[in-house]
Amino acid sequence: MSLLRIDGLSAGYGNKTVLSGLSLALEPGRIMALLGHNGAGKTTTLKAAIGLLPACTGQISFDGARIERMAVADRVGLGIRLLPEGRGVFPDLSVADNVAVVAARNVSGPAPMFREADVFKLFPALDERRGVRAGSMSGGQQQMLALGLAILGTPRCLLLDEPSIGLAPNLVERLFDQIRALCAAHGMSAILVEQNVAAAMRIADDIVIMNNGQIVFAGLPDAARAANVWDYF
Ligand SMILES: Nc1ncnc2c1ncn2[C@@H]1O[C@H](COP(=O)(O)OP(=O)(O)O)[C@@H](O)[C@H]1O
Ligand SMILES: [Mg+2]
Repeated sequence: MSLLRIDGLSAGYGNKTVLSGLSLALEPGRIMALLGHNGAGKTTTLKAAIGLLPACTGQISFDGARIERMAVADRVGLGIRLLPEGRGVFPDLSVADNVAVVAARNVSGPAPMFREADVFKLFPALDERRGVRAGSMSGGQQQMLALGLAILGTPRCLLLDEPSIGLAPNLVERLFDQIRALCAAHGMSAILVEQNVAAAMRIADDIVIMNNGQIVFAGLPDAARAANVWDYF
């Protein structure tokens, strides 16, 4: 059974329809690279998946249960986590306070996968900067913190919206290796929205390409490389 399944989803802003009849399936333990040029509807798809944007028509299922009418907080409770476009941190709070605030909300239940201490163990660079104002850190460190915040509690499905933006290539590689390792070690799935196609292809199990609110390719990386889909970039 797919972990996250979107069937015939239409969504948009006001009168403007952005997604029309979009369908995709994220399988357990897999990383899907969701690619496509600016304005294709990638962010809109992630927003609809976590409930920030209502679905006009269509179904969204998580672990076999329908969630398209569920509130954001309930979807987060199921383990769906969004790392938003831009820097997903509270810039004026210290690193420790960022982690504490999100932990207070998302760490619950008898055996959460990641508590505050686990995040600092996973990312020693954050541990060294506990007292530092998050907004004063480098882009790479802020993105690392954003990832740390996204996994607090028991995540099962990460929705990562262009985490590589503004990072030097070696940092992108390191961050993506960390994402890959986290998913592998904890059986998590991820949708990785990226403009950095090469970096995303390196860690993705599945490739989905969007254009104009629709999916124009879905398949394995080798098939994506072979197919004539690069016209979309
Ligand atoms: N808040 C909004 N209000 C109105 N239109 C929006 C809004 N956000 C995005 N759009 C439009 O929706 C389309 C898809 O945007 P988006 O999902 O952000 O694309 P991507 O993430 O692939 O770059 C674009 O035409 C964009 O202008
Ligand atoms: Mg976007």
